Amino acid sequence: MKGDTVLVTGGTGYIGSHTTVELIEAGFKVIIADNLSNSKEGVLDDIEKITGVRPAFYREDCTDRKNFGKIFKENGIDAVIHFAASKAVGESVREPLKYYGNNLLSLMNLIGLMMENGVGNIVFSSSCTVYGQPKVLPATEESPRLEATSPYGNTKRICEDILRDSITAYGNFRGIALRYFNPIGAHPSALIGELPNGVPNNLVPYITQTAIGKLECLSIFGDDYDTPDGSCIRDYIDVVDLSKAHVAALNRMLDGKSEKPYEVYNIGTGRGVSTLEIVKAFEKVNGLKLNYKITGRRKGDIEAIWGDPSKANRELGWKASRPLSETLRSAWAWEKHLASLEK
Ligand code: NAD
Ligand code: UD1
Repeated sequence: MKGDTVLVTGGTGYIGSHTTVELIEAGFKVIIADNLSNSKEGVLDDIEKITGVRPAFYREDCTDRKNFGKIFKENGIDAVIHFAASKAVGESVREPLKYYGNNLLSLMNLIGLMMENGVGNIVFSSSCTVYGQPKVLPATEESPRLEATSPYGNTKRICEDILRDSITAYGNFRGIALRYFNPIGAHPSALIGELPNGVPNNLVPYITQTAIGKLECLSIFGDDYDTPDGSCIRDYIDVVDLSKAHVAALNRMLDGKSEKPYEVYNIGTGRGVSTLEIVKAFEKVNGLKLNYKITGRRKGDIEAIWGDPSKANRELGWKASRPLSETLRSAWAWEKHLASLEK
């Protein structure tokens, strides 16, 4: 609640920076811990430009328990939002130990430090990847978690279990795992957004980089799926809406409204949108033509997934509200902002 102090690990990253803005605007005091392995310190300036407040910043690695632990000694922390993780699916297949090492150890250290320092509330970034290809759509929180298709996906499943088991064993400790569907878009100010490392794997950064001419042509991975237009379907969730879900989850815990010590929520729109629909919507709202071609399927792709967010709507009082058109406009504004910085 207003005035409480939140430690945001991975707070200079894509979702962490947007969530920091929402937290500050909701009256929280934010402390960011990030090792800058996939983000830049300059994001703090942009957060300050948007909110008028500069969050406290520690350049620390969550796997370094001793130094990371200093943050707890130096501050009175009421809750933690844990974003810090490695997240590139392809890299995780090539370097599984990096992923298990970083993602599991970061969470284990964090839980240990929270216990030691009497911090009893955590929101964890999970992913719809834990559902694999659900047999029944939309996926609900009760849908079975299937075997992960990548080491990255497996870390999300294992981290959920680490959190659940720790909460069960140690008591006096509450946690919420948010299973994000596909986060896209940028802040309406266009000052913060996603900073892909190298050639993007995700659809929307690939689209915006193609539109700006950094990349030549978008490949649409398959039009022969069993979907209305043959391309894959996802539940694209606006990053600002997603960030607001974190504020709602924190408030549920801090206001003592959690019904169970460990809770899980789907964070999506409840609507499936195809790859081709995204491309067409992007062209329409931004008044441009995108260079794209249909190519073969991408190995490991899931045909269709979208989530049922009604539990979050009901219990968190949260609902995705930004129209897709606005989200896609914000993604393009962000790409143009980045290009203007490079000039
Ligand atoms: P991101 O890479 O932009 O942000 C993660 C941040 O964590 C980066 O700033 C990075 O420097 C930092 N970090 C990584 N390891 C760290 C460590 N050991 N110590 C300190 N800082 C560390 O990624 P994002 O898209 O903002 O994702 C945030 C979280 O949400 C991740 O846990 C990710 O797995 C999860 N998630 C993301 C998506 C997505 O599509 N972006 C979907 C589902 C879940
Ligand atoms: C990917 C990750 C998933 C992660 C999610 C986060 C894989 C296998 N999975 O999922 O673990 O949780 O991001 O958002 O990487 N597409 C194209 N052309 C492109 C890029 C994408 O057609 O150049 C299509 C894909 O086939 C897919 C859709 O766009 O159908 C979305 O792709 P992407 O953004 O990579 O997300 P996911 O595949 O859902």
